[in-house]
Amino acid sequence: MKELYVVSGVTGMTGSELARQAVGAGTKVIGFDNFFASSFASVEDLRENPLFVFHPFDLNDPEQMETVRREVLAEAPRVDRIVYVNCAAVVHTEHFYHVNRTFQTNVVGMKQFLDQAIAVGADTYINCSTSEVYSMASWAEGGVKESDYIRLANAEHSQRTSYATGKLLTEFFLRDAVDEGQIKGCSIRFANVYSKSELYPKHIIPHILRQLRDTGGVELLENSRKNRRTFLYNADSCSAVLALIRTPSALDGSVYNVATEEEISILDLVRLCADKLGVADPKITFNGYRASDPERRVLNTEKIRSRTGWAPSVPLEQGIEACVRELTK
Ligand SMILES: NC(=O)c1ccc[n+]([C@@H]2O[C@H](COP(=O)([O-])OP(=O)(O)OC[C@H]3O[C@@H](n4cnc5c(N)ncnc54)[C@H](O)[C@@H]3O)[C@@H](O)[C@H]2O)c1
Repeated sequence: MKELYVVSGVTGMTGSELARQAVGAGTKVIGFDNFFASSFASVEDLRENPLFVFHPFDLNDPEQMETVRREVLAEAPRVDRIVYVNCAAVVHTEHFYHVNRTFQTNVVGMKQFLDQAIAVGADTYINCSTSEVYSMASWAEGGVKESDYIRLANAEHSQRTSYATGKLLTEFFLRDAVDEGQIKGCSIRFANVYSKSELYPKHIIPHILRQLRDTGGVELLENSRKNRRTFLYNADSCSAVLALIRTPSALDGSVYNVATEEEISILDLVRLCADKLGVADPKITFNGYRASDPERRVLNTEKIRSRTGWAPSVPLEQGIEACVRELTK
């Protein structure tokens, strides 16, 4: 079957790996990104590949999205299946506390991209949501499940959940479109994706690695005295998207957790990074505090594993080694 993938945020962590793997498997990709949190460097190896079409476009620009729509329609007669994957988003934690920074792209942009997918007759829409939606009850015995009720921090506590509620709304848009028979698809709740080519210096793994490399120490938020997280390498976030695309029975409008079960404290993460960088006895200092930041976030991934056979393949230690090689080359 001949497929076409249309990928927003294609130079980001998940989008770039998805484009690479899809093109490697002979699938044409039309992708775009406005370089809000990435650069073309992440897909440089695809520059000359005729299966990869890239535009420096903004999801919120109607004229640019019209160009994408026309290109997809021109390609449509030559393919059996069109798959839209919405990776574009304002993602990083510092933005979560600013409701206006995330709303336009994450909510309105997602909906307009979905409307376009339906209008061009796409078969599938993959909606990248987030594990942030679990807010304050972010872990449970065996991990939080997609069907668990959610305990949200709200405007009485901080603005943080504005990001999560926006993403949660996108899950409803997608579900509605599938229930109405307009398209197939699903939403994915990722937890803490990282990659060796991540550009965003404030994200926790690049922050720790760069500070350790440059100063031999690291400054963390007060929250990091207690916080624990799982981290998902972008090859694995990408393979989850592909596993879902390739399992039509899973594209029922529902939600899938995608994460590892390898939980680590932020303090142990610093020690692991220091060890891989060859920094002995790293100096850790604490400054600043984030309200409504859950101490743990552990997802139950039984649903995607049982329905698609997906499992993460890159252990944290191996992923950190790849990041260190990239940082020190
Ligand atoms: N990174 C994580 O830890 C994480 C966690 C949960 C969910 N997610 C979700 O997964 C998806 C993929 O994120 P990622 O991990 O690849 O992060 P990422 O930041 O690397 O990728 C997002 C991409 O979207 C682009 N972008 C932002 N605004 C845009 C706009 N208006 N028009 C076009 N492009 C735009 C950015 O430049 C970036 O390349 C996102 O929807 C994100 O919300 C990510």
